Amino acid sequence: VTRPADFLLTGAGELLTLDPALGDGPLGVIREGALAAGGGQIVWVGRTGDVGKEVRLLPGGREVDAHGGVVMPGFVDSHTHSIFAGSREEEFAQRTAGITYQQIAAAGGGILTTVRATREATTDELVAVATRRLDLVLQHGTTTMEAKSGYGLTTADEIKILEAIRRLQEAHPIEIHPTFCGAHEVPPEYRENADGYIDLVVGEMIPAVAARRLAEHCDVFCDQGGGFSVEQSRRVLQAGLEHGMRPRLHADEFAASGGAELAAEVGALSADHLLRVRRDGIRALKAAGVTATLLPGTAFFLGLPYAPARAFLEAGVRVALATDFNPGSCYTPNMQLILTLACTQMRMTVEEAIESATVGGAHALGLQTQVGALTPDRWCDLLVLDLPNYYHLPYLYGVNHVQTVVKAGEVVWPREVST
Ligand code: NIG
Ligand code: FE
Repeated sequence: VTRPADFLLTGAGELLTLDPALGDGPLGVIREGALAAGGGQIVWVGRTGDVGKEVRLLPGGREVDAHGGVVMPGFVDSHTHSIFAGSREEEFAQRTAGITYQQIAAAGGGILTTVRATREATTDELVAVATRRLDLVLQHGTTTMEAKSGYGLTTADEIKILEAIRRLQEAHPIEIHPTFCGAHEVPPEYRENADGYIDLVVGEMIPAVAARRLAEHCDVFCDQGGGFSVEQSRRVLQAGLEHGMRPRLHADEFAASGGAELAAEVGALSADHLLRVRRDGIRALKAAGVTATLLPGTAFFLGLPYAPARAFLEAGVRVALATDFNPGSCYTPNMQLILTLACTQMRMTVEEAIESATVGGAHALGLQTQVGALTPDRWCDLLVLDLPNYYHLPYLYGVNHVQTVVKAGEVVWPREVST
């Protein structure tokens, strides 16, 4: 019997299913691959030569010919600060002259520069600037992304950012998962009173965000010398949990401050950055089943050491790769560049890097049954890459290989011009 489908992809030189049971090697590669979807979800994967006996494309259905290119799942970018106003090119120029990111932050710049611009913006303005940014994200192959608040730092401004994200969820093809990150930085009003700010986050912001159902996750910047202490971070994450938000956190970015251990203690979905993680932190993540989200674009952009990816992999910790897309520490929407950095700077294999940027990201967001792999019943979120084989993806770097982006069985890039 043939399966009815409203979307059919044929002619993939390599179809990376990301399920080793469906094809060759750890990425489950099917040569001369094909895939069919119905109602946005995958119904069949196999070989192009078998399409005729397996699939029946319904009238009005869409067919895409990959012309021998590589087809893979859309990237799942599980850590972004992509909703903000303004930009920080002057601070970037200062950094090129030798001033550090942390010196800029200590002088009232950095995150607070973006806070000032974001507080001044209306919801409409935030949606407009973020739409252009998300278009870039989509063109570079990300079909699912996390987006954090954290540039408002008042109840009203944090809600404004999350409401902008809600409007983008409705209007933009990218699947967006919102995170409340009110404890991203101490705002100027609380400069000498970080505990007082945590009281506001816990007592007012989290209940207000939860009442409006604006965030799935709760994040906190847990670090030493900038950022919040383990005790402060624990209060935020526990309050988030009590209000139905799943914990995730910025951990051990600038100092080994116990963030990984806290992630394990509260059962976080993910601990992120981890440049300075200790052995005990790695063991704690493994024991608690927390995903380690590595952001090599940030280490690259700030000139910091890279997270010990091999130590995580050898300890059996699940690894995700994400951009950290934000105007200060990593201003790129491009997951393909992150793959190159993971391979060349963190010594991940090409296969490990691709898995971490798809399946790994899905785990970091708790979406592992829905996205990240091209297998029946998952969303049909895929990329057609103009490449002869998947090794070229991190190898020919600094350019965009994405030719076509499909989200839930619809071609969303290039935009189809209606006539
Ligand atoms: O993940 N560490 C804190 N937050 C961001 C930086 C945000 C910014 O500089 O605007 C990060 O690197
Ligand atoms: Fe971040």
